[in-house]
Amino acid sequence: MKIALASDHGGFELKEKVKSYLQTKGHDVIDLGCYTEESTDYPEYGKACGEAVIRGDAERGIVICGTGIGISIAANKVKGIRCALCTSLFMAEMSRKHNNANIIALGGRILEHDFALNIVEVWLNTDFEGGRHQRRVDLLDRM
Ligand code: RB5
Repeated sequence: MKIALASDHGGFELKEKVKSYLQTKGHDVIDLGCYTEESTDYPEYGKACGEAVIRGDAERGIVICGTGIGISIAANKVKGIRCALCTSLFMAEMSRKHNNANIIALGGRILEHDFALNIVEVWLNTDFEGGRHQRRVDLLDRM
């Protein structure tokens, strides 16, 4: 799968780990930065990832900041993005089954990094259920 990745400095270390993991699994990764641990602004990176997904450069996106909060807010400002901040396997599963999340947000400073990879794995391998959830997602996309 083609996946866009972006983080600020608070998510940089986890982004690098997620990138290696995805490449090992054979995914095609577009790394939108940041590229160092120097302090930077999460809104730019959330926006860049959201826009990459909406343009069709990537099927899905993964955004990471310290808590995952700021960068998820930024990604969700892009029309058509459904970015879910996930801290558990269940949230990752439900964000796909019910919300058809096209971006997942992670907190590099709050998740144990090996566990974050498990969250990513579940999220990538769970399909949207459609049915009654489609109408709700359509409502979201019309907002
Ligand atoms: C950066 O210090 C931090 O505020 C950012 O990574 C993120 O946690 C914001 O929501």
